[in-house]
Amino acid sequence: MPVNALPPLPRLIGHRGAASLAPENTLAGFRKAAEAGARWVEFDVRLAGDGRCILLHDDTLDRTTSGRGRADLLGFEELRRLDAGAWFGPGFDGERIPSLEEAIELLAELGLGANVEVKPGPGAEAATGKAVAEVLRARWPKSLPTPLVSSFKEAALAAFREAAPEFPRGLLFSAVPPDWRARAESLGCVTIHCNHNRLTRTQAREIIEAGFPILAYTVNDPARAEELWDWGVATMITDCPDRLLAVMPTALT
Ligand code: G3P
Ligand code: MG
Repeated sequence: MPVNALPPLPRLIGHRGAASLAPENTLAGFRKAAEAGARWVEFDVRLAGDGRCILLHDDTLDRTTSGRGRADLLGFEELRRLDAGAWFGPGFDGERIPSLEEAIELLAELGLGANVEVKPGPGAEAATGKAVAEVLRARWPKSLPTPLVSSFKEAALAAFREAAPEFPRGLLFSAVPPDWRARAESLGCVTIHCNHNRLTRTQAREIIEAGFPILAYTVNDPARAEELWDWGVATMITDCPDRLLAVMPTALT
């Protein structure tokens, strides 16, 4: 595969696994996404206190686990003792914070592609980018499409690129800034990821005409997804793959 080649993107990607169907960033979420018919999932990767790559959105443990305080103050083995599913609802207790390695193993088993979001804790931008790159290099299976690696943190993308330039990268924004193109090009990014609520049709046109596929998050309303596909937005990152797939012709998945 040529360096930094972007695989064909699916029309939708399950957000944090499938965040409306299962606890976010858990293996149960990957299974639910696959069951719902998603072909790819997005998830967030940060560092545990001992440098292991783990799947967790927040800097702190409070919202999505039975733990409290900063996640980067605990090592992986301590984090593993926490429950990462009970908060979501019955049937999910016993879910654990996954390591990136075991997440990849399950992706391979389920045949799911991935948008890996590098989500560093404060001050850990470069270390997280480098650590994710090393795990992807060592563990990403040839049977899956090459993963698309994204981040809001440009320092994380720069470190990722330095360590593993062969994986395609996407630059994440909330609102797309006027200098989006220079910033993406300086990091060799090939996709633009943005909050659909802050994206205008004019911006979408400009980005697409410049040759950058857009991935919009978090699009949970099927009517809005249809509108954005109509604008030419390539991919909806959604908590509800089941709802979006229901309005999508199979040929477009
Ligand atoms: O990667 C898209 C989206 O996940 C970015 O925002 O906060 O949900 O990680 P967040
Ligand atoms: Mg994310």
